Amino acid sequence: MCSRVTKVSPSMLSADFAKFGEELIRVERAGADWVHIDVMDGNFVPNITIGPDVIRSVRSLSRIPFDVHLMIQHPENHIRAFAEAGADMLTIHVEAEGDKEEAIERIRESGITPGISLNPGTPFSDIEPYLDRVNLVLVMTVQPGFGGQPFREEVLPKICAIRDYAKKNGRNIEISVDGGINRTTGKRCVEAGATVLAAGSYLFKMPDMASEISLWKKFDSKA
Ligand code: DX5
Ligand code: ZN
Repeated sequence: MCSRVTKVSPSMLSADFAKFGEELIRVERAGADWVHIDVMDGNFVPNITIGPDVIRSVRSLSRIPFDVHLMIQHPENHIRAFAEAGADMLTIHVEAEGDKEEAIERIRESGITPGISLNPGTPFSDIEPYLDRVNLVLVMTVQPGFGGQPFREEVLPKICAIRDYAKKNGRNIEISVDGGINRTTGKRCVEAGATVLAAGSYLFKMPDMASEISLWKKFDSKA
């Protein structure tokens, strides 16, 4: 595969929620490709974050694509609300309760990009049945629910397996990694096949987010 530019998707979970709109504009100005928005329901994961109304309220502030990560049970019941609120990509979890086929179908019908995510302990084989219908795989490199956790390096071979699957089947799938991503772990993920780096705490603590993002975009897959 020829080398490609790595995309960066800063996670708003680490933003200052009191200035959510301004933080979104800051991310866009720093050169991010997408912005990662974490939706948690207090059931699929123990934490609760934001819903469609917040997404709708900031949509008009920026043109950056909204990469919305649904950590919720029964995602099929909420697809329309998130699509109408302005999500450009909607990623559901393979471990979530509910009808995943239906959820993916509804995302497609809404004219936006469907994604599937898997936890560190979930094998690649669990997402394989969905891979012909999604354009994004979000590989969790921490247990979902909270920012600021250390990267789980045992996940790296799974990134390679997804990259190999996409290559073998001629599928145009973005492979995003989420959790504990920093300059070092991000580079390793790209070398394993990741095409998108979702990162919260590390990027938001950087005094100069823009120069960090521009460095990450140059990471090369060498594959
Ligand atoms: C965790 C979320 C992540 C989180 C990553 O459940 O899905 O997107 O923001 O945060 P960091 O980069 O701090 O690990
Ligand atoms: Zn996330």
